[in-house]
Amino acid sequence: MATLNYFPCTTTLSHPTFPKPPASHRLQITSQNKNVDMETNSSNNISQPKVDRRNMLLGLGSGGLYSAANLVITPRDSSATPVQAPVLDRCGKAKDLNNGKDIDINCCPPNTDQIVEYRVPPVSQMKIRPSAHRVSDEYIFKYNMAIDRMKHLPKDDPRNFWQQANVHCAYCNGAYKLQEGQVDGPDTEVLQVHNSWLFFPFHRWYLYFYERILGKLINDPTFALPFWNWDNPKGMTIPPMFLEKKSALYNEKRSKNDSMPPAVVDLGLTGEKNPLQLVTNNLTIMYNDMIRGNSDVYGFMGKEYRQGDAPDPGPGSVERSSHTSIHWWVGDPEKNGEDMGNFYTAGRDPLFYCHHANVDRMWTLWQYFIPSNKVPDKRITNFDFLNASFLFYDENKQLVRVRVRDCLDNLGMGYDFQRIDLPWLDYRPPSQTAGARIRRANTISKLAATIFPLKLDQIVRVVVQKTKKGKADEVLVLEDMEVDTSKLLKFDVFVNDEDDNSFELDKAAYLGTYAQLPHKSETNKTVKTSINLKLTDLYDDMDIADDDRILVTLVPRNQGGGVTIGNIKIIEAPPAKKPAA
Ligand code: C2O
Repeated sequence: MATLNYFPCTTTLSHPTFPKPPASHRLQITSQNKNVDMETNSSNNISQPKVDRRNMLLGLGSGGLYSAANLVITPRDSSATPVQAPVLDRCGKAKDLNNGKDIDINCCPPNTDQIVEYRVPPVSQMKIRPSAHRVSDEYIFKYNMAIDRMKHLPKDDPRNFWQQANVHCAYCNGAYKLQEGQVDGPDTEVLQVHNSWLFFPFHRWYLYFYERILGKLINDPTFALPFWNWDNPKGMTIPPMFLEKKSALYNEKRSKNDSMPPAVVDLGLTGEKNPLQLVTNNLTIMYNDMIRGNSDVYGFMGKEYRQGDAPDPGPGSVERSSHTSIHWWVGDPEKNGEDMGNFYTAGRDPLFYCHHANVDRMWTLWQYFIPSNKVPDKRITNFDFLNASFLFYDENKQLVRVRVRDCLDNLGMGYDFQRIDLPWLDYRPPSQTAGARIRRANTISKLAATIFPLKLDQIVRVVVQKTKKGKADEVLVLEDMEVDTSKLLKFDVFVNDEDDNSFELDKAAYLGTYAQLPHKSETNKTVKTSINLKLTDLYDDMDIADDDRILVTLVPRNQGGGVTIGNIKIIEAPPAKKPAA
């Protein structure tokens, strides 16, 4: 198993087996950034979106999928309510989610009312983020120095490492939303950037400024963050540079035994220990998160979330699966998951930013490299998505307001990723046919309609009616799930599966996962959330053509409940839209 252990520090800036990007996404750097920003006042003051434009066109970057020519924004109507940036003077200590008490951890970056509307500067040189398992010693030295300097900035400098960690805490535990045009806000509406369509954009902007601050501190504007390549077997251990006890990249609060190399990451949190089984599980999970499990853009990005909405409408596939698992797998289970396994402390581990650089890479790969016949329209053109805003401090300590619409194309923001092969891209599980046991269970198990709502504290098997007999384009919806947000929760979903408590996810019967980290919700601890899991490809893999119902098995992985499922049903997949020419 030598290949799963440490990896030599070599720089490999391109990899021949990385799929060739589509023409629209090749690196074409022009000296001038062609950002067109038709909605923001060009002055450097806080600006409100203009409301009177119809079918606005918006351009980002230099000719990517999201270029001005092909992104049509749904016009704003009177009910438009994009999520607004937080009230920074209304957060304080992090809260213990189990008892509502303050924890002695600051959860708020410094406050100021000098806010500047941010414009992405012209890209003169593309930063290439490298795989953390393939960087040179010089790179590690430089990165270490940058983080060290960040940790030693004055405590109240917003660029200080711990202040950066507070930003993450504020956006998931401590801050409140500000109404548009308000300078102070009601403290009832918690701001939560997880478990919705804000997940990818928020974390992209967060890393963008973190990377620029590090570059500034070492006087290297080309400095690019490393990504933890956990989707490739060669990257499925904690990158060695984060394990040196004397390094600024080291963190005490991690799981002591389970996640130390040569332990292989467990993207399924099954507790499986066999490294070969873990690798095949992981690749199947990646294939599922990225390709097989989503029938539309919201399946990947997460569900719609607007100002005034209750938090946690529903996480996208990567967020609720591989992303959450890495957090929990790294954190210390003895200490409430701290640091990585609980949102209020996650930003305090330097490994967090390396993890999220890969999460960000998944977004880019999904946009540009996943065959478009799977999800024909990968864009969200809704006004409330594009105009949602966040506040960050930039590398010059300036508090800036950024909008989702300006972060949809990583090339336009000036960075790309080292090309690494994607072994999960073709990792479709082998076909499987349901045996006699399933046929029988299918006739004797209870119908979904008769047993929900149901508290999921043991393995449950239930029959769900398809919308029509035969092969169909369908989605399994788990709705009105009441989840306890103070806990780690995880359950897996299988269809027509022979096994009862499988640690093997590398099979056609595995449909998907719901997993969440402890995080804050409204005043009470539960939220209602839902997820959609695409069935179409599973039908193909499992020869379900003649059936009019399926047997769904729900396997909880964490101890002791925390989830009540309101209902399970099958709906037709949303009709495939033609991608814009
Ligand atoms: Cu904001 Cu992975 O967490």
